[in-house]
Amino acid sequence: MHLETFIPVFIMFAVFGLIMPTVLSGISDKGRVTGGEAVEPPKKQSLFDQLGGNAAVNAAVDIFYRRVLADAYVVRFFEGVDMERQAAKQKAFLTMAFGGPHSYTGKDMREGHRHLIKMGLNDSHFDHILMHLRATLAELGVPNNLIQQVIAIAESTRNDVLDR
Ligand code: HEM
Repeated sequence: MHLETFIPVFIMFAVFGLIMPTVLSGISDKGRVTGGEAVEPPKKQSLFDQLGGNAAVNAAVDIFYRRVLADAYVVRFFEGVDMERQAAKQKAFLTMAFGGPHSYTGKDMREGHRHLIKMGLNDSHFDHILMHLRATLAELGVPNNLIQQVIAIAESTRNDVLDR
């Protein structure tokens, strides 16, 4: 090949060789942008969602309530509480324990249970409620690690519920 032919051919290949990797990486980058969400690690589901959200609360309410009312040791605290309102309160209780959306503060928990403390509410009753919560979740087939997380949330309200 003559030098006059070689130089333009050489330049052509050199330019092509420099440009093409850039163009190709641009194209594959575009692919990455489109699939961007897939590359990001999946968002961690909240405990409430992992348990099944509102549907799980509804499923748990009946079992939990049945267990609590069948427990002679704590039933007196629930006597005289309007059933309709009580169902709503059980739901509120479970939503809270499941780590779901609720608007209760520690102060609300203190005030909501203060009259029960006058009736003798103490740690031993709290332990019974935790036991029923655990049994309810086990009956629903909730995995142990999630049960432990629920119990930890319920446990974190102990001092507020017992007003100390
Ligand atoms: C695990 C900790 C507990 C949590 C997170 C909890 C949560 C709640 C919530 C959210 C309410 C509804 C408050 C309202 O809207 O007025 C409530 C009410 C109630 N809780 Fe608890 N609770 C706990 C422990 C207990 C215990 C240990 C007892 C008794 C053994 C109990 C008995 C009641 C009763 C009887 C009511 C209804 C009060 C009334 O309206 O007269 N709770 N609780």
